[in-house]
Amino acid sequence: MSDATLGGRFTFPGTALGVRRVGYGAMQLSGPGIWGPPRDPDAAIAVLREAVAAGVNHIDTSDFYGPHVTNQIIRQALHPYPANLVIVTKLGARRPADQSWQPAISPKDLTAGVHDNLRNLGLDALDIVNYRVMGSGHGTEEGSIAEQVSVLADLQREGLIRHIGVSNATATQVAEARTIVDIVCVQNNYNLVHREDEALIDDLNREGIAYVPFFPLGGFTPLQSSTLSSVAERLGATPMQVALAWLLHRSPNVLLIPGTSSVAHLRENLAAAELTLSQPVLHELNQIGATAAHASH
Ligand SMILES: NC(=O)c1ccc[n+]([C@@H]2O[C@H](COP(=O)([O-])OP(=O)(O)OC[C@H]3O[C@@H](n4cnc5c(N)ncnc54)[C@H](OP(=O)(O)O)[C@@H]3O)[C@@H](O)[C@H]2O)c1
Repeated sequence: MSDATLGGRFTFPGTALGVRRVGYGAMQLSGPGIWGPPRDPDAAIAVLREAVAAGVNHIDTSDFYGPHVTNQIIRQALHPYPANLVIVTKLGARRPADQSWQPAISPKDLTAGVHDNLRNLGLDALDIVNYRVMGSGHGTEEGSIAEQVSVLADLQREGLIRHIGVSNATATQVAEARTIVDIVCVQNNYNLVHREDEALIDDLNREGIAYVPFFPLGGFTPLQSSTLSSVAERLGATPMQVALAWLLHRSPNVLLIPGTSSVAHLRENLAAAELTLSQPVLHELNQIGATAAHASH
């Protein structure tokens, strides 16, 4: 399969790890509320196998999806892993029995999290681990992450983690993390409507660091916009495909990890890489975020 497939190739800075720009996010593979087993385990396995067969070599996951369930499904579906597959996981939370999301950020928590991921994925070392900053639930929040990033750097020196990223992080936190260790990717909330990271994306691009938007399709609140629907209709594509193509056009360091539990949606999302958006169309789509930002003030 050629490197031009799925949006072309991106190499994480300072690493030998290359991925196609359209990847897959595995969060939708556990049960409702990202808790417990999926309703249809065979379908979850089919989605993962189809993704890899189609050329996807970047899978985003976490041991707090399920918890543990999503990683176990990835292992069941794909282990032994293809040599070129990059699995990216994240640390910083735990899921108590009430199904909430709680910070798990002590050195002991983070170290245990690495071992949980290794065991459930069936790996000796994790390709990339993001430190996921937990806030109050209203987006990113300032505050030092030096202690947690230093723990990940120690685990990297031990050989359990190959490369490090950060998630749900402010530009200040990204800069702080980069004083401690090489950061290869930043995974934050960004899509056609949610556009707070515009400057950060461009800054990271200049450094060759990947920017990986989570909720690329709007996450729990799927993107809806009359402009998006009208552009999609004109292009003979679906609104979700246009939303993903817009992200691919946004900057060469943007990598996609759309999540789905459906093979049909997966195929649709991967085909978004074939869509070319003209400058006038990009301009039209850019107004969606501008309008959303205006409406929220
Ligand atoms: N770092 C973080 O804090 C963080 C937070 C959230 C997510 N993530 C990562 O980011 C990935 C992507 O985020 P996400 O899965 O939450 O949200 P998303 O990709 O924005 O959207 C997923 C939702 O869209 C639906 N969908 C997917 N493709 C579709 C299509 N072609 N047509 C219509 N609906 C479609 C899915 O339902 P179906 O299952 O029915 O397709 C699901 O409800 C996750 O899988 C996870 O790996 C990271």
